[in-house]
Amino acid sequence: MSDSSVRSSTVQSSEETRLWREEFSVAAAEQGYVERRQFGKFLLLISGAMFAGQLWLLAKEWMARARRSVWPRREVAVAGEIPVGGARVFQYPGPMDNCLLVRVDETRYVAYSQKCTHLSCAVIYSAAHKRLECPCHEGYFSIDDGHVIQGPPPRPLPKVDLELSGGKLIAIGMSEFGKDQER
Ligand code: FES
Repeated sequence: MSDSSVRSSTVQSSEETRLWREEFSVAAAEQGYVERRQFGKFLLLISGAMFAGQLWLLAKEWMARARRSVWPRREVAVAGEIPVGGARVFQYPGPMDNCLLVRVDETRYVAYSQKCTHLSCAVIYSAAHKRLECPCHEGYFSIDDGHVIQGPPPRPLPKVDLELSGGKLIAIGMSEFGKDQER
């Protein structure tokens, strides 16, 4: 290859590079603009999602309070009339909703829905094991909070909230281990 053809080829190549850089700089600027715009949209999306999440939590809390405020108050026993380790069936909140009141020790009373969360058999209290037992498929529930200890029940037993007032045990609402109980 002659010197002149080498020079000509070099000049052509540097001209192409200059043109390419010019174009490339424009493309890079545009790309930066697009990325900033996309990032802005992303931030907007995240903020919106967080705001919606906060609204949902507020609505949930409001609904839980509304539910709590409509539970009836009902006397279920006179403190002391059930022996330690004993239990009594009562109805709450409706006349068909059987619940079990248990005197766990001298001063402690707890109450739960008697309907097993598996297939609705009636649970009974085992004083020997200090737990609620479903005789149908050996589902066991904690006497402390109603959570499932063993067996097929898919959910905890709904707990009846009690209040001791003037020597009487009053049912004031229901709750479930880990969440509010819907009526
Ligand atoms: S009905 Fe209670 S364990 Fe199946």
